[in-house]
Amino acid sequence: MAASFGVSKGSTSFQAIQEERREQAERSVLISCPAKINEKKFLDELSKHGTINKHFFYSSYGTYAVVEFSSRESIASLKESTNIPAVQHESAVPFKSRLLSLKQTGSGSHPIPNFQEQSPPSINDLNKLLSEQDSIDEQLQCLTKALQLTEENISLRFLVCSLLRDIAGAYFPECIIRPFGSTVNSFGKLGCDLDMFLDLDGIYASNQKTQGSGLSLEYQVKRGASERVVTQSILSVIGECVDKFGPGCVGVQKILQARCPLVRFAHQPSGFQCDLTANNRVAMKSSELLFLYGTLDPRVRQLVFSVRCWARVHAITSSIPGAWITNFSLTVMVLFFLQQRSPPILPTLDQLMGLAGPSDNCVIEGNDCTIVSDLSKITMQSNTDTLLKLLQEFFEYYGNFPFKKSSINIRKGKEEIKPEASALYIQNPFEITLNISKNVNATQLERFVVLCRESAWLLQQGEVLNRSSNQTADSVPAWGFAALLLPSVTSGAGVKSRRKRKLEPASSRIKNLLDSLKIKGADTAAKKGST
Ligand code: CTP
Ligand code: MG
Repeated sequence: MAASFGVSKGSTSFQAIQEERREQAERSVLISCPAKINEKKFLDELSKHGTINKHFFYSSYGTYAVVEFSSRESIASLKESTNIPAVQHESAVPFKSRLLSLKQTGSGSHPIPNFQEQSPPSINDLNKLLSEQDSIDEQLQCLTKALQLTEENISLRFLVCSLLRDIAGAYFPECIIRPFGSTVNSFGKLGCDLDMFLDLDGIYASNQKTQGSGLSLEYQVKRGASERVVTQSILSVIGECVDKFGPGCVGVQKILQARCPLVRFAHQPSGFQCDLTANNRVAMKSSELLFLYGTLDPRVRQLVFSVRCWARVHAITSSIPGAWITNFSLTVMVLFFLQQRSPPILPTLDQLMGLAGPSDNCVIEGNDCTIVSDLSKITMQSNTDTLLKLLQEFFEYYGNFPFKKSSINIRKGKEEIKPEASALYIQNPFEITLNISKNVNATQLERFVVLCRESAWLLQQGEVLNRSSNQTADSVPAWGFAALLLPSVTSGAGVKSRRKRKLEPASSRIKNLLDSLKIKGADTAAKKGST
């Protein structure tokens, strides 16, 4: 029985966890296998090259195995005994990657291995799971468990980064391709994209000693007009190599004119949609910050997963870029909300900076990105709010937030006057002159606010919390959180729904309630303005 995937208990700091996973990925291979693979024979064959630490199978346009050896030498040995295929009518690019295919002659009868799931459950399965829980708090806990990335999925993500590194490493042997965003920030959902950046910092580390001879050597280099131009040309060449040489990489698009130039493609064997950027250290730091917040209290991730799921189901967020609120913005909104609780559930970013030791100092491109890495220095306040209370108050808070005049600032942990007229202003945690939700237009913000008010209202009614009274047509009782996922009555999304029909007689009550919420919101804003 192979050991389970994941990092060892000793690794607690964010950086240590990332390093451990990266090193594991470098000792791993991805193998396309016949559907009826004989697991025992497969492991016996591969073990000829060295000890296998861990392995797992999954299915995605075919059967694949991830195999982690205990030593990198095993990879070299395995590659020695692997052939470039002879292809008929076409010609092969003879690039020897760690994405391999296993051929099996004769199948025989043997048990089929266990496949690890790499996709999130369908909305129907999720509803069923939710309906089986005993309380809304349990629902939000089990939703997080069902949607979060598995250890195996994270390993596969690091392996894809490592496979791409082998391509980029042909030009820049010291480079590292690091995942950031939801792969590492503890808020990733199965199926989320794979954000990566090309880290070239290792190139600048020099071993040159001051020799006292007055002589030193420099590389002759090609120059570009600016750092941006150099980044664009590096990404362009690597994008070209990924397209032409990278097995399994399809639909490569170079989006070099974006604020943050990137190469986008699909990695078919893993099923990941990939975005490769360069020099994205600040985004890596904000991933670390989110990870830290996610670690401090289990309710943080549970609330974020639930709000993100709710937003996706109601098309508040989308997988297509546009004027909608993003998952990143929503996450920061939840963190900000949790800083506003009494007592606060989360510290402000300024407080995290205040606790940092000298070794935590970090300035990236002129931005002070210092945060404490030793979590034991953070004293948590004793807030015992239930998830139900937090969810309800989240909806009430944002259903009434004075978006017109205020911005959201997790650094200070309080509302500030908006510095410019974007519909939604959320200060970037580290690049403080940037708004992470600049893309959001007034219509999309309004849809979010209306849905928040509707969900707040549904929870206030208490009826949705009653397990037996909310029966949908297909007989899955949609109660508690599942009831909030039913199509909206007020968002104007144009969906004629079961709920719409069911609740239509109450629509005047909803209107009254929404009006009252609006008035309550104006009150709160006025009170805040006067203090
Ligand atoms: N990011 C940022 N500013 C933005 C958008 C993104 O700093 N306006 C950074 C954040 O660190 C974010 C990362 O880029 O986590 C990746 O962005 P994105 O893929 O949009 O968000 P994820 O957090 O990865 O969430 P998702 O699951 O939707 O991919
Ligand atoms: Mg992402």
